[in-house]
Amino acid sequence: MTEQKRSEWNSNLAFMMAMIGSAVGLGNIWRFPNVLYSNGGGSFMIPYIVSLFLLGISFVLVEYAVGFKFKRSLARILFSVSKKLEPVAWFILLVVFLITTYYVCVVGWDLIYIVLSITKAWGANPDLYFTNNVLHATDSVSGIFTIVPTVLASVFAIWFIAWFILKRDLNEGIGRVSKILLPLLCIIVVGIVAFSLTLPGASIGYTQIFTPDWSALTNLDVWLAAFGQIVFSLSLGMAIAMTYASYLPEGSKLVDNALVVAFSNSGFEVFNSIGIFSILGFMTLSSGIPFNELVTEGTGLAFVVFPQVFNIMGDVAYIVGPLFFLCILFAGITSVIALLEGVCYSISEKFLIERKKTATAVCIVGFCISTIFATGLGSSILGVFDAFLNNFALLFAVLLECIIFGWIYKFDDLIETLNNNSKIKVGKTWKTVIKYILPICIFGLWAQGIYSTISSSNSFSTTIMIILTIVLIVVPVIFAKLPAINEHYYDV
Ligand code: PHE
Repeated sequence: MTEQKRSEWNSNLAFMMAMIGSAVGLGNIWRFPNVLYSNGGGSFMIPYIVSLFLLGISFVLVEYAVGFKFKRSLARILFSVSKKLEPVAWFILLVVFLITTYYVCVVGWDLIYIVLSITKAWGANPDLYFTNNVLHATDSVSGIFTIVPTVLASVFAIWFIAWFILKRDLNEGIGRVSKILLPLLCIIVVGIVAFSLTLPGASIGYTQIFTPDWSALTNLDVWLAAFGQIVFSLSLGMAIAMTYASYLPEGSKLVDNALVVAFSNSGFEVFNSIGIFSILGFMTLSSGIPFNELVTEGTGLAFVVFPQVFNIMGDVAYIVGPLFFLCILFAGITSVIALLEGVCYSISEKFLIERKKTATAVCIVGFCISTIFATGLGSSILGVFDAFLNNFALLFAVLLECIIFGWIYKFDDLIETLNNNSKIKVGKTWKTVIKYILPICIFGLWAQGIYSTISSSNSFSTTIMIILTIVLIVVPVIFAKLPAINEHYYDV
């Protein structure tokens, strides 16, 4: 059988919107404010900007150059770098896929909250409501056998939406959806931030961002936190930029594009956090709860603290509430499709399965795995998946990519690819960053991640981590061993 027709972006705008959509996700909305606050407030912007320029943009450029130069899927790219590296590609893709299975579940919870926020159905105690009425969370292991129907339905809905977008042609699906959702997301965020600044007490919140704690700068953990946020927020190492850049037509301006994407993503999270902080400032003034108790991370912020805020906000919360959760939904969907596109591309290129069928198979398997998170024990398992895959497996993937492209592959070819396709040129500094500085920083984060994951583990989480480790070793080897149906797959 011969190769399928390659997909190509029909406009630079579609590519940029898809790239920004992939980066702007739940991490920007609820992870960044907490990381910023816990690491020195205003002064955190220094390590953050240094990490963005020195490490984040540098790594995105590697992914762009590799994708653009090879115009292939990750599995086939690593196979052509060295036959032995194909399992590494399937390892990276499996990590991305498993991350998606629980990310979809969190977006599913958000879908439930869009509906709840219309009537503020969470009542006077949003904390209890979230654990008891939404998650039906239990500590007992038998909880894994009780399905929570509403969570299952919303998880199904998100997988269905992802499938519906992915199965279409690149421009009709991902391109068009990103061009619609991203502007909508921006309009809503601008509206929420503008509104939040008018709230009494807003200044208690936003001044936190502008009040620096300079002593934090001498703390290594703060620098690692900045770098960790950049890895998460720019979705580094997930083969997204590589996949999207491989669909670029000749003559595209790579470095210029990467800069626009990175600035838009960081601009979004900084701007958005002004709104989040102002709203929390209002909460402090109105309820007397100290500010530092309100700035939590993740699900706690979105599904507990924000409903509490909406409870005291009065009638305007019936508009602001659904809009806030709609924002998370839009940001989440564009990230989910980006996470899945690279996985689908590698499978369809190796096994020569058409786009629609690959998307269907991947989404069905994904949904089946996600059902684990729709059980009574789901949120606990989700926590373990999140800690293990993000702190450990994903950072390991980024480290491997740095080593492969910085050391094993002819790095100078990448410099040439970028410089031939950009007004802004890269050179030796970039090479030093990728070969030395970036691997050292990632190793630091990785060691810290392993330490915190191990020190907070118990027998339940250890069992899940062992299962995940086995899956992450066995499945990639099987995928690499399976013979390719595409006869050109092995052309180096
Ligand atoms: N960067 C996106 C976010 O901030 C996408 C992402 C998904 C990143 C999953 C890491 C893990 O949400």
